Amino acid sequence: MRFKDKVAVVTGAAQGIGRATALAMGREGAKVVVADLQAEKAQSVANELQALGAEALAVEVNVANETSVKRMAKSTFERFSRADILVNVAGIYYPKASVVDLSEEDWDRTININVGSNFLCCREFVPAMRAQHSGRIISLASGIGHYGMRQFSHYAASKAAVIGFVKSLAREVGPDGITVNAICPGSANTSMPRQHRSEEEVMERLRATPLPHILEPEDIAGSILFLASDAAAFITGQSYNINSGTYMF
Ligand SMILES: NC(=O)c1ccc[n+]([C@@H]2O[C@H](COP(=O)([O-])OP(=O)(O)OC[C@H]3O[C@@H](n4cnc5c(N)ncnc54)[C@H](O)[C@@H]3O)[C@@H](O)[C@H]2O)c1
Repeated sequence: MRFKDKVAVVTGAAQGIGRATALAMGREGAKVVVADLQAEKAQSVANELQALGAEALAVEVNVANETSVKRMAKSTFERFSRADILVNVAGIYYPKASVVDLSEEDWDRTININVGSNFLCCREFVPAMRAQHSGRIISLASGIGHYGMRQFSHYAASKAAVIGFVKSLAREVGPDGITVNAICPGSANTSMPRQHRSEEEVMERLRATPLPHILEPEDIAGSILFLASDAAAFITGQSYNINSGTYMF
């Protein structure tokens, strides 16, 4: 039970990597805030956690909205009085569009949801972590933030920004006993990479990796839990590619 008595806030926890992370945290003894725009699905994950014997609170949140994020933090502190781990998972990938066709609205939406959310969520939880002189923040970036992708400039820019944000915040809050790191998944078997590719394309892509393994949400969750654990006490400001070896640097 690596996280007994710890409180973990996981955004984007209604499905995919966030759900896998929330369930894994609960299995390891954490009390989990299951936060997502999709309230019903978040409640189902909280129910699954309770069935496992973990304490859980489902919270409806729009991570790109300041008022909504403040409400999520308030609900967390009212229920659990503290926050030890913040996992910023919520994100969007679509629409697929060339730079010359992308609307300003879609650019802003992607930046606000994928990286603005990191700012808003960290701003709410860092003060409590500072006060307890401990905390773990893990943010989901992407390999695409390193190597870019045609027709996903908005997504790539948002994820590269997450990496820069993590490094800067890590420098700010290290003296307060808080670590901040990013995970850069390769193509994982969730709804996200399926949105714009056929099943056949996804499977072909997933198989073209040095490690013959299709990444599942649980594989990404395992790395997130490592960074949240005592074993990673002196790791901060880093970004880890979890991609079965697709991209190496
Ligand atoms: N799956 C992959 O292959 C992959 C690869 C690289 C990076 N990532 C990153 O990992 C994270 C999770 O990916 P996934 O595949 O599990 O995605 P997913 O689409 O399955 O889940 C994303 C979750 O975020 C929630 N969400 C979206 N916008 C929100 C908002 N404004 N407020 C609150 N919740 C919101 C959705 O409701 C959903 O539950 C994302 O940040 C994504 O960019 C995923």
